[in-house]
Amino acid sequence: AQIEKGGFDHFMLKEIFDQPASLTDCLRGRLDVSNLTLTLAGVDQHLSVFTQAKRIIMVACGTSWHAGLIAEYMIETICRIPVEVEYASEFRYRDPIIHPGDVIIAISQSGETADTLVAIERAKEQGAFIFGVVNAVGSSIARLSHAGAYTHAGPEIGVASTKAFTAQLTVLAMMALKIGKAKQSISEEAYKHYLTELSQIPEKVQVILSGHESIREVAQVYAEANNFLFLGRGYNFPVALEAALKLKEVSYIPCSGYPSGEVKHGPIALVDETLPTMFIATKDKYYDKIVSNIQEIKARKGKVIAIVNPDDSAIRGVSDHVMEVPETDELLAPLLTVIPTQLMSYYIGVLRGLDVDKPRNLAKSVTVE
Ligand code: G6P
Repeated sequence: AQIEKGGFDHFMLKEIFDQPASLTDCLRGRLDVSNLTLTLAGVDQHLSVFTQAKRIIMVACGTSWHAGLIAEYMIETICRIPVEVEYASEFRYRDPIIHPGDVIIAISQSGETADTLVAIERAKEQGAFIFGVVNAVGSSIARLSHAGAYTHAGPEIGVASTKAFTAQLTVLAMMALKIGKAKQSISEEAYKHYLTELSQIPEKVQVILSGHESIREVAQVYAEANNFLFLGRGYNFPVALEAALKLKEVSYIPCSGYPSGEVKHGPIALVDETLPTMFIATKDKYYDKIVSNIQEIKARKGKVIAIVNPDDSAIRGVSDHVMEVPETDELLAPLLTVIPTQLMSYYIGVLRGLDVDKPRNLAKSVTVE
């Protein structure tokens, strides 16, 4: 097992560090920056299904559901197609309305999650087009789908999903760009800009990983926390949800994730000098709002950790700790901002003496409902 872990102490850490390579694998043969082309066979073969779709519904569970939330923002921005994101366990039982021409995107690392599988079976019976974004080749969800795109992240052993998530986001971003280009709902310039930014993601992830030592130091400060709050806006809001899920999975610390704008509607009641709040606060159109959200937490003596870009000064000035990620377009920021949250969760879990690769009560793949 030590050899399988490639010299790392745990699969989770290995898989976090795999990401520059797994994302490169995910992009290989698909993204060609010099010719400005994107090749995704499953989308190419059914391009008109996507360009004519009146609605796209994402169906998933857990971390994959968070990828769906980010894809909602991507697709609505780039393709101007309305998107809904559904928990598979709700969707399958609640008699949802499905119109002919609706596209369902099922997102699943394992391709075996029972709720997701049954949800798409039902939708298929009602005439929806099912597209699978799946990691495990030949899995049940891959077979049941009309078409799909594999995430090519390689086997993920750690129960807490890391590299599968970033590969899902990469595939979903490529899909949004392909469809947006075909629909002409984005300009040539924007398309070129996104492709260039996307191609630089693996090396930027590597830059973040190289700074793991400083993330471990922050983890040390908060390893004994009894509660944790994660906040973000826009594309970084689902990252806050994912960060909260990851830390709770591997540390058993009660964690919540919220859009920062919702804080005053409840979570702010938790804030005192013992509560760490992590803000995911890279440069985007919400930046000034985030700065004032941080000040609200500091005014109540909360501890603030912020994920920022290197040239940031305003947030650095009001936070107790910062973690840096390179700049990219806000639409792709989750691919970078999630990395420090994965590392922090890992380190806190290990510092608490827990089995981060196999947390209690959790399964890698939930094949029963
Ligand atoms: C389980 C795993 C999670 C995963 C979720 C969905 O809860 O522990 O890490 O996100 O299932 O799994 P899937 O394989 O469908 O992505």
